[in-house]
Amino acid sequence: MPLVAGVDSSTQSCKIVVRDADTGRLVRSGSAKHPDGTEVDPQHWWDAFGEAARAAGGLDDVAAIAVGGQQHGLVALDAEGRVVRPALLWNDTRSAGSAEDLIRELGDGDREAGAQRWADAVGSVLVASLTVTKLRWVRDNEPENAARIAAVALPHDWLSWRIAGYGPAGDPSAPLGPQLDKLFTDRSDASGTGYYDADAAASDGGAAGADGADGADEGVGAYRRDLLRLALGRDDVVLPRVLAPTEAGGVAHASVAGADVEGGALIGPGAGDNAGASLGLGMRPGDIAISIGTSGVVSAVAPTRTADGSGAINGFADATGNSLMLAVTLNAARVLDAARTVLDVEFDELARLALAAPPGADGLVLVPYLEGERTPNRPDATGTLHGIRLKTSTREHLARAYVEGMLCGLADGLDALRALDVPIERVMLIGGAAQSPAVQQIAPQVFGVSIAVPEPGEYVADGAARQAAWVLAAARAGEAVDAPEWSTTVATTLDADPQPEIREQYAAVRDLV
Ligand code: XUL
Repeated sequence: MPLVAGVDSSTQSCKIVVRDADTGRLVRSGSAKHPDGTEVDPQHWWDAFGEAARAAGGLDDVAAIAVGGQQHGLVALDAEGRVVRPALLWNDTRSAGSAEDLIRELGDGDREAGAQRWADAVGSVLVASLTVTKLRWVRDNEPENAARIAAVALPHDWLSWRIAGYGPAGDPSAPLGPQLDKLFTDRSDASGTGYYDADAAASDGGAAGADGADGADEGVGAYRRDLLRLALGRDDVVLPRVLAPTEAGGVAHASVAGADVEGGALIGPGAGDNAGASLGLGMRPGDIAISIGTSGVVSAVAPTRTADGSGAINGFADATGNSLMLAVTLNAARVLDAARTVLDVEFDELARLALAAPPGADGLVLVPYLEGERTPNRPDATGTLHGIRLKTSTREHLARAYVEGMLCGLADGLDALRALDVPIERVMLIGGAAQSPAVQQIAPQVFGVSIAVPEPGEYVADGAARQAAWVLAAARAGEAVDAPEWSTTVATTLDADPQPEIREQYAAVRDLV
């Protein structure tokens, strides 16, 4: 019974699951916290990984490991493998102006043309989350740091590199030293950088060896070094090699994982967290996942990627060779946290209050752009409350308005997918807040469709574990094999009469901010 490990290095914590490679049965798990903030020294991720691995009973017996991670974060390394500055995370909005600059520059001064050109080139119109905008920000604001950048990685690439034994020069926990050319990534996470074209993988047959613009073997797909140059002013940096879905990136250092396994533990390509969750859920074309976590994400798997010049939908890649279309909001679970703070209640009471008010909260509407928003792109917006009257000045109305406002933001994302004719056959609700009775009862009223809620689980870590099992199976078979079938159980199906007035009253005030 080979064991595999899946890691979710998320914004908030590091979670590790150890599963039976054949059946997917959960054997052990562990987790550790990450610090708060939108810029973080990656060393914290490495420390949390070690703590989570110990909490999971160690990783000596795993035959393969893969890492899912928060997307987009800029991990800039110098020639000695040291981070040049703390990583700028996906939810750091300081590069919003840089995104605008890059859009206009690619459009030769015309914003609309530039937006469409970025969408055509890399699948997404730039917003502050994407790595390329952070590179431009560093170049404009910290030129001395920009000059030291020798390699650019993403959080999951960096962690996989550390697991393989590489790392900063002189660090005893990095016995193999700072070999930057050993960095690797996967299509899904590379597709969120803003300088990688995952579609080129399809036109190249998806095989390894598609050459980058400089002729180096940079793996599947193609880096757009011209776009990297536009941001950083140069492109002489090492970028992680992009692996195909079942290609191993190397072997874990025995001090980290696989010490008891012959040949050591293979390291899978890993994935961005949304692609990891999609693999963990076993999503296929036609499936939609709505995730309510630190970010709110509406995602859909499809064979080809979109190029949405409006910017509502990011055309990323998934972890199986398909595309992963995403609408991402910055205001999801934290809207409920804010409601709890305002009302000074715990989650159960918040749900009870929200459900005690009528659908539409008698016209009290929260537009929840609390710390700016990404979809729609309003980095400087704040939230607004409309329809305050004597009748709506109750705790129940306020609770309901917060829950409805958060769900309306996500429903706009679902509409953006509909507008691109993305097939919608099954809608799933995941993430911590999906367990709230208020979210469960109000979501089908807002979305107007029936919703499946899978058993609560660590879907990103599970997806990474499933990828590790897939990589292991392919390596043992010596040829391409299908992903192992691990079942996901739907715990509840939510149905309710649609209440279109909730969205209508929201749409009437949404753009007044
Ligand atoms: C996706 C995105 C977020 C992060 C959260 O584009 O920015 O979902 O991946 O970890």
